[in-house]
Amino acid sequence: MKIAVFGLGYVGTVTAAALARDGHTIVGVDVAKAKIDTIMAGRSPVLEPGVDEIIAAAVSDGRLRATDDPASALADAELSLICVGTPSLRNGSLDLGYVKQVAGQIGSKMSVAAKGHCVVVRSTVLPGSARNEVLPEIERSSGVRAGDGWDICVNPEFLREGVSLVDYDNPPRILIGEREPGAGQPVVEMYGAVDAPTFSVPLEVAEAVKYTDNAFHALKVTFANEVGRVWAARGADPKQVMEIFAQDTKLNISNLYLRPGFAFGGSCLPKDLRALTFAAHNATIPVPMLDGMLPSNEVTVQRAVDAVLATGKRRVALLGLAFKSGTDDMRESPLLELAKRLIGEGMELSIHDTAVTIARIHGSNRAFLEGTLPHINRLLCEDLD
Ligand SMILES: NC(=O)c1ccc[n+]([C@@H]2O[C@H](COP(=O)([O-])OP(=O)(O)OC[C@H]3O[C@@H](n4cnc5c(N)ncnc54)[C@H](O)[C@@H]3O)[C@@H](O)[C@H]2O)c1
Repeated sequence: MKIAVFGLGYVGTVTAAALARDGHTIVGVDVAKAKIDTIMAGRSPVLEPGVDEIIAAAVSDGRLRATDDPASALADAELSLICVGTPSLRNGSLDLGYVKQVAGQIGSKMSVAAKGHCVVVRSTVLPGSARNEVLPEIERSSGVRAGDGWDICVNPEFLREGVSLVDYDNPPRILIGEREPGAGQPVVEMYGAVDAPTFSVPLEVAEAVKYTDNAFHALKVTFANEVGRVWAARGADPKQVMEIFAQDTKLNISNLYLRPGFAFGGSCLPKDLRALTFAAHNATIPVPMLDGMLPSNEVTVQRAVDAVLATGKRRVALLGLAFKSGTDDMRESPLLELAKRLIGEGMELSIHDTAVTIARIHGSNRAFLEGTLPHINRLLCEDLD
């Protein structure tokens, strides 16, 4: 395929080199003359193992060149990849300036591109950016509506600097955000040489996955460092703790506990989190992320209350009361807290939980239930209908 790559930084250079190596014809575009000259001299403008050699071979074979002229890069191009930077503005917000500038250049030269041209946003952009900011910019500058001879996709990059070629060839997945189903087919074809699970999703999902990945990676580092400093102070070797922790691929490093929904609770998580953060504070060890977890969980409960109140309805059926299904453990159940707050707001509540009958609940569990909802007997309803 003939492909124009806009932005020859880490992502653009590695992508251009790998695509040329895999048999495509690539023209790279950058505003930095030094980068163009470096590529045309057969070298990589970024330091990445293996990329120099690929660029040297691709440039001498005529499968890769670089220019500062968008029109010459777009001539007959089937795809254009936007790989320019998306830095933070001073207030932390996303700067789409470079992406929109390139979008405008692509749009104004759309007429020279191949019919069915696919503009692919590879830069990291927030959900909604492609549909609401990049697409209108291309429509404005080209005078042609999306879907009428051209389309837009989002294809985030998952490479890590330093091992980017290895990551390009072995990505965790190929993720293609499409404006409408099927529009991402040119991107699927572009990756013909890469063997990886491929997901075609709406534009916004692809954009969001990239940020979710990066936020999660940052969370993992922060988490390991926070628990690590507490355990070091309590005489447990943090490295050994985390090695054994990570070895549990059933509950820890797995897809469990990663479904957005309601709050956590139960007899262990809140109690143990409190003990851990208390121990940290006692040893004057700051753990701001761990400190944020219970307040964040509380926000989840309050948002459910607010969502019910926002309906303006007064009669509410609560299906489930224990902290998770299949148990009758009521201790620190967030659903119990939800029930309590809804009653406090004057709601008429009926609660149905197949596992919860007052006669069968004993001990601290019953004491907790009756302490939280003294009139629980009147609220429980065994008949779902
Ligand atoms: N670096 C990474 O490891 C990595 C990994 C995944 C995703 N990303 C994302 O990919 C995007 C690019 O990252 P990067 O590290 O390659 O950026 P970079 O700053 O290294 O490169 C961006 C390039 O775009 C060029 N550019 C700017 N305006 C241009 C224009 N109008 N026309 C042509 N070229 C222009 C710049 O001169 C520069 O060479 C960012 O959104 C980043 O968040 C980066």
